[in-house]
Amino acid sequence: MDAILIKGGKSLNGEVHISGAKNAALPMLAASLLAGGKFCFKNVPELKDIESILQLLSSMGAEVDRQGPTVWIDTTELKSFEAPYELVRKMRASILVLGPLLARLKRARVSLPGGCAIGARPINMHLEGLCRLGAKITLEHGYVEAEASRLTGEEIFFDVPTVTGTENLMMAAALAAGTTVIRNAAKEPEVTALADMLNNMGAEITGAGSPVIKIRGVDNLRPVTVSIIPDRIETGTYMVAAALTQGVVRITGAQPDHIKAVISKLKQTGTEVAVAKDEITVTGCRPIRSVDIKTLPYPGFPTDMQAQFMVLMSLANGLSLISETIFENRFIHVPELRRMGADIQISGGNAMIRGVKKLSGAPVMASDLRASASLVLAGLAAKGTTRISRVYHLDRGYESLEKKLANLGANIRRVSENVPETL
Ligand code: EPU
Repeated sequence: MDAILIKGGKSLNGEVHISGAKNAALPMLAASLLAGGKFCFKNVPELKDIESILQLLSSMGAEVDRQGPTVWIDTTELKSFEAPYELVRKMRASILVLGPLLARLKRARVSLPGGCAIGARPINMHLEGLCRLGAKITLEHGYVEAEASRLTGEEIFFDVPTVTGTENLMMAAALAAGTTVIRNAAKEPEVTALADMLNNMGAEITGAGSPVIKIRGVDNLRPVTVSIIPDRIETGTYMVAAALTQGVVRITGAQPDHIKAVISKLKQTGTEVAVAKDEITVTGCRPIRSVDIKTLPYPGFPTDMQAQFMVLMSLANGLSLISETIFENRFIHVPELRRMGADIQISGGNAMIRGVKKLSGAPVMASDLRASASLVLAGLAAKGTTRISRVYHLDRGYESLEKKLANLGANIRRVSENVPETL
């Protein structure tokens, strides 16, 4: 296992290019199961989670070929409708194959994802939605067993908007008989990107990006060539990196419209943010003003940016309240940030952050993807050396993280976990 060593205190300057979005790529790659033939995906990030879904698709008989950011998937012949535990336990988003398998092969056997570090993360709304479309679902030996001769359109009302739930239902309903209406649907840009891809494949979906999505089922879909949208969370993470280190960073290949809530909050902290068509230039300024944050479904402030923003608030002037409303256990980075000198008190879903003058480098442990990103940011801003272990979490979701940060002038290096090296 690897660790990351950062010698903090350097301001980041220069240009960084944003990769394709992990959370857009995952459902879009899963959607290749809906139609037989050869798909071409461009701007696919090189990440562990992408490897996992490609491995899963291969295990089902898809032929997968990758050259850099381009991935070809031939789903002409599928030989299996199963997503085994060994693959699903590595990545819970594997549940995204459930809807497509059921729609095309009329059967699916998908290991039930367990909880994860950030919360219990049930999939009841995915399953209830598929049942409403007529699927017969049983849970046996840790697997979701689903069958349906042909799914039929229905009205589905989600208790709370679920991103992968909306995506799974949209994919299943695309090949159902009749019209499906999803109410209280997730509005995230990744949902809209998937709807656009499905429509290019021949689906008839309207309303994606709004709380009501209508899907008129069709008999067949066809393969397409599609490009993955830029990663809004990677974008936000580099924005915070510039703000924290008082640097000037030009973020290219971004989609500023997808990250308006973060841009707005960052401006309130006194950070300068200049937005152009597909770039954002962030200039870190002192003092950092404290602001309050509440995570919400899109277009609210994303839960996937909460940990990173907390690091910025740790060095702000005054008190800041961060409320996490999406996942019940998304403050796992807090004890590690405290080890670096942050002053944070947690009460239920609220964190009270009292800004401190400085953070100091320390050995810390990564625990989930975004928590790990927050530790990297803290390490960049801290005095001295920070050693972040268990960096495989970062490899799941940030393409070439050390390379991109090093290009911006960070003193960062990956080392083997067992080697007690210093920078
Ligand atoms: N929920 C249920 N039942 C369900 C589904 C969800 O109660 O059947 C609850 C969840 O427990 C949570 C809320 O609904 O409280 C919203 O969860 P959602 O289903 O939207 O999350 P997700 O689809 O599992 C995606 C992203 C996450 C991101 C969340 C929220 C992917 C592959 N994952 O997860 O990304 O945090 O939406 O925006 O798209 C990450 O990239 O680090 C990450 C965790």
